[in-house]
Amino acid sequence: MDPTPAVDPDAEVVADPVEPVIPGGGADLARRRFFRQFAGELFQSAATVVGAAQALQRVSAEAAGAILDPGTLAVEEPPAIVLPSAPTGFRTPFRESPGVLHIIDQRRLPDAIEEYDAHSAAEVAYAIREMIIRGAPAIGQAAAIGMALTAARLRTTRPYARRATLRGAAQALSAARPTAINLRWAVDRVMARYVEVGDLSEDGDAIAEAMRAEADTIVFETTEDHGRLAAFGLAILEQPSEGPLRVLTHCNTGPLGCGQFGTALGVVQAAHHAERDLHVWVGETRPYLQGARLTTWELAQAGVPHTLIPDVAAGHLMARGEVDVVIVGADRIAANGDTANKVGSYSLAVLADRHGIPFYVAAPLSSVDPEAPGGDAIPIEERKANEVLYLRGQRIAPPDTAVRNPAFDVTPGDLITAIITDEGVLRAPYPASLAAAVERRAARRAVAPTFDALHVPDASGVA
Ligand code: MRU
Repeated sequence: MDPTPAVDPDAEVVADPVEPVIPGGGADLARRRFFRQFAGELFQSAATVVGAAQALQRVSAEAAGAILDPGTLAVEEPPAIVLPSAPTGFRTPFRESPGVLHIIDQRRLPDAIEEYDAHSAAEVAYAIREMIIRGAPAIGQAAAIGMALTAARLRTTRPYARRATLRGAAQALSAARPTAINLRWAVDRVMARYVEVGDLSEDGDAIAEAMRAEADTIVFETTEDHGRLAAFGLAILEQPSEGPLRVLTHCNTGPLGCGQFGTALGVVQAAHHAERDLHVWVGETRPYLQGARLTTWELAQAGVPHTLIPDVAAGHLMARGEVDVVIVGADRIAANGDTANKVGSYSLAVLADRHGIPFYVAAPLSSVDPEAPGGDAIPIEERKANEVLYLRGQRIAPPDTAVRNPAFDVTPGDLITAIITDEGVLRAPYPASLAAAVERRAARRAVAPTFDALHVPDASGVA
């Protein structure tokens, strides 16, 4: 059995009252921005995260080339981005050492970089529930690794007990944040590998290895998908004839929320890397302040010019003609294109529509839920009242004030100009374009090497 998490799951999460200080920034940092290292760091990070550096070192030049140069893959490819060299300040939200998933505690950012150590699926579920780690793609990857950690701890457990524990862990993880489909998608994938080996198999090693391989594959594929998505997104950004491209974004969709790279913020950083003249309006994202605390922090590290705005100022800026494009991420995209994302996204879409501003959703196809025909079928998480009643430890409303705290809202597909995915930029009618893109992704995965396929034998013949 997994131990009880070494934390109090019922503890109220109220952010530290310390004044935020945004580290880094400055023009010199702009020279070291992480997007410049995209391909190299991306794979280095993936390798670190999944503890697979040795595997990558063994990768044949041919296989590595196929991945680092997407031009060798068969299906539609994003425009090339050329990169690597020096170190950067970019942070993945987690890293691994044997038996431990070290997760950056995002509740403490930007004031401190502290890690929460998870040793099991139960502890990862706690971290996800409490938003120690957040962002749909990031929690999917963490959940997959959590399942692998628990499977490894159950190598010698009897099959029935193992099955009960794994099913319970999968259930706890999937329920930890109900809106982000990436979470259930990742857990289901890892559990499918378990069932493939045999859910009552005596071979705990085989089960643990299969589940670990699937978790590694998920991290690898997510990383690659986000890179493709960013390149597709960059290609459709129209530079104004004068002045910077003014991008409004919401919540946090950078490496902290996505794993290694980013969705909406990945597109932004692709533009920055391409030396586009760019300025980002960062919505603060009440009540959890992902924009104010995390996106500003990441953009400062990457050297991307940006300005923090109160969420409620977006309409004013649009009315003044100071926003050229809105780009947000997604927690779940229904089959008809309706998209659940951080609460406030819908308001931005309505405003963008009113002002004739393109409103883009940037998300990997793993955020698509083909079983949800429309936005009404997407469960919307409601969170604790204290997240609204308190601001960084300070109560801002009378005690016992009634609170509604929906964490997400749904933007109808007809307000979305395009959905930027790892299979290209999709336009309405979304039922057809999404379904076709999902098929293309499957075709790409069928021919492209997966992380598993990269576990090639080294000179000694050991895989
Ligand atoms: O509540 P959060 O911080 O997990 O919400 C995150 C978002 O809404 C993101 O926009 C989404 O997950 C897409 S990319 C991280």
